[in-house]
Amino acid sequence: MPSNHLILCRPLFVLPSVFPASWSFPTNSLAPLPAPRNLKVHLYNAQQALSWEPVSLDGDPRPVVYQVQYKYTSSNWYDVNKEDSKVDCTNLTRTECDFTANSLSEGFPRRFNISLRVRAKLGGLISAWATAPWFEHYRNATIGPPENIRVIPEEGSLIIRLSAPFDVAASEAFFVYYVYYWEKAGGRQVPRCFRSNYITLNDLKPLRVYCFQVKAELCLTKENISRPGHLSNISCSETAADASVKLQQDILAIATTFLVLLVVVGVCLFLVLKYRGLVKHWFHSPPSIPSQIEEYLRDPDQPILDALDKDSSPKDDAWDSVSIVTFPENEQEGSPQSADPSHQPTEGVL
Ligand SMILES: *[C@@H]1O[C@H](CO)[C@@H](O)[C@H](O)[C@H]1NC(C)=O
Ligand SMILES: *[C@@H]1O[C@H](CO)[C@@H](O)[C@H](O)[C@H]1NC(C)=O
Ligand SMILES: *[C@@H]1O[C@H](CO)[C@@H](O)[C@H](O)[C@H]1NC(C)=O
Ligand SMILES: *[C@@H]1O[C@H](CO)[C@@H](O)[C@H](O)[C@H]1NC(C)=O
Ligand SMILES: *[C@@H]1O[C@H](CO)[C@@H](O)[C@H](O)[C@H]1NC(C)=O
Repeated sequence: MPSNHLILCRPLFVLPSVFPASWSFPTNSLAPLPAPRNLKVHLYNAQQALSWEPVSLDGDPRPVVYQVQYKYTSSNWYDVNKEDSKVDCTNLTRTECDFTANSLSEGFPRRFNISLRVRAKLGGLISAWATAPWFEHYRNATIGPPENIRVIPEEGSLIIRLSAPFDVAASEAFFVYYVYYWEKAGGRQVPRCFRSNYITLNDLKPLRVYCFQVKAELCLTKENISRPGHLSNISCSETAADASVKLQQDILAIATTFLVLLVVVGVCLFLVLKYRGLVKHWFHSPPSIPSQIEEYLRDPDQPILDALDKDSSPKDDAWDSVSIVTFPENEQEGSPQSADPSHQPTEGVL
C-alpha cells in the first residue's frame, strides 16, 4: 500500500532534519562517554585543587567539558560555581579545578571533611561521576618549608627569622619549627624545636661557619594532629666575633697601621737625606725663569721671546731677585719699581 508506506516512512525521514546532528537523548546515557580517571587532590600549603586525566571519544572532534561538585560530610552535592566558591568549575575545558585560583577564593574551610566528584560532558553525552577520596585540609595538606628565611649573625650565636609556610587562623592551628644545625667543618646535626618564628641558636663558637635547615610543623589547636613540613634548603652563615676577639682584632689593626706608617715615614726620611742635593735643585730651579724676565727688564730692547729662548745659566743663582718679578704690561703701567737705574719709564703713564 503506497499510503501506508508513506505514513510509516515520514517520521523516520523527518527526525534527523528537525534535530541537529549533535542531538542525542537527554537521559544519562552512560555507555559511550567514560568517566574521568586518576583523580588527584592537590593540597600544598594553602592551595586546593583537583585534577584528572582527560576523556575523549574516538571520532568525535567536539570538545569534552567537565563539571565538578563538592559536598561536606552529610550535605548534598553542590556545583563549584562563581556564587558559592568564587571559581567556576561547571563547564571546564581544562582537566583541573583550582579552588584557590584567585585572591577571592580561599578554598574550602580547612577543618571540614570535603568530598569532590567530577564528570565529563560531550554535547548531550554525560559520563558517570568519578569521586576523589575525602580530605580535610589540615589533615591532608603537604606543608612546604618556612619562607623568607633571614639570618643575623651575632657574637657566638645566629638569629634566624622566618615566616610561616602559609597563614593559619590561631584558633585553628599553629606552627612549630625544627632547626637542624651543624658546624660546617664537620659537626653533627642537632635538631631543636622552637615555637616562635624568631629563633636564636645559642652557644655557638665565634667566627665559625654554621649550616642549618628549618622545617615547619603544623599543629591543630583542638585536635591531637600534626603535619610535619618539608625541610628548607641548606643555608650557611658565619657567627660574629665575640667581644674579646673583636678587641684583639682592633688592637692588631691599629698596630699594623702604625707600623706601616712608621715604615713609610722612615723611607721618606732616608730618601730625602740621601738625595738632599737633588731635592734642593728641584725646589730651587723654578726661580730661574723670573731671572730671565729680570734680564729683559734690564734691557727692554731685547725681545722677550729671545730672552726666554736663552738657556738659563745654572750659575745664575738669582732667587734673591724674585721680588722684582713683573710683566711688561705692568712695567708700561709703571706700577712696580725696578731697581735698575737704566730703566726708561714709558711716557705719560706715571
Ligand atoms: C569524611 O567523610 C567521609 C564520607 O564523606 C567519611 O568516610 C570519613 O570517615 C570522614 N572523615 C572524618 C575524619 O570524619
Ligand atoms: C559550556 O561550554 C561550552 C563550550 O565550551 C558552551 O558551548 C556551553 O554553552 C557551556 N555551557 C554552559 C552551561 O555554560
Ligand atoms: C586524607 O587523609 C586520610 C587519612 O588521614 C586518607 O584516608 C585520605 O585518603 C586522604 N585524602 C586525600 C585526598 O589524600
Ligand atoms: C597525641 O598523639 C600522640 C601519637 O600521635 C600520642 O603519643 C599522644 O599521647 C597524644 N596526646 C594526646 C594529648 O592525646
Ligand atoms: C632550593 O634549592 C633548589 C635547587 O637546589 C631551588 O630550585 C629552589 O628554588 C630552592 N628553594 C628556595 C626556597 O630557595
